[in-house]
Amino acid sequence: MNKRFVIAIDGPAASGKSTTAKQLARKLKYVYIDTGAMYRASGLCTLLQNVNLNDEAALKNMLDNISIKIEYAEDGNRVYLNDKNVSERIREADITKLSSQIAVIRIVREKMVELQRKIGENGGVIMDGRDIGTVVFPNADYKFFMIADVKTRASRRWKEAKENGEIIPMDEIEEELIWRDENDSNREISPLKQATDAIPIDTSGMSIDEQVDMIYSVIKRGENA
Ligand code: CDP
Repeated sequence: MNKRFVIAIDGPAASGKSTTAKQLARKLKYVYIDTGAMYRASGLCTLLQNVNLNDEAALKNMLDNISIKIEYAEDGNRVYLNDKNVSERIREADITKLSSQIAVIRIVREKMVELQRKIGENGGVIMDGRDIGTVVFPNADYKFFMIADVKTRASRRWKEAKENGEIIPMDEIEEELIWRDENDSNREISPLKQATDAIPIDTSGMSIDEQVDMIYSVIKRGENA
């Protein structure tokens, strides 16, 4: 019987976490949880319910009643906010910015971490985010920290947008990535940071298959130990 590990993958925006985690989950038959999608869904929820980010009581009420579900689908996970499929809406630029703004708020993080720990409590899960190895699962069986230079990351986002029929100027993408990394790294609570025991992987010159194979071989070694 294979061991059912908790695998944490953290790193800055567009460093290759989600593509790698998704493929890895398929190979290992694990559940993949994109925790960024949860912050994105929370951000969208404030918009839909007209909740001001500075109004802690309203925010608390929103969080007490929020339902965020991530469902596996062959072509990418579906994200449901209060039973509505918001998978596409949460990838839009306004929500990307809002997700990073809402992610600095303590009560929001507490709620998301609580949900994430519940999902991962029985193992067999790969979570990607910013604080999985440092805060959500500090005792995760494996921790990886993925980085890539900003030009590589921007060109990945450019290609993704193009595949969705959108042409966004490269400098606009770069600016957004730099702003978000700074905002995520400099916040007081659970900043984006490499856990001291995480394995760093620079994906700048790597293909997706290489990234997946590298992590897969580390985990397989552990499974057989
Ligand atoms: O996919 P991408 O790298 O663009 O971002 P994401 O993983 O979807 O995360 C969106 C935003 O959510 C990030 O910029 C962070 O501000 C926040 N986030 C976080 O604070 N903690 C996490 N565990 C995951 C995401």
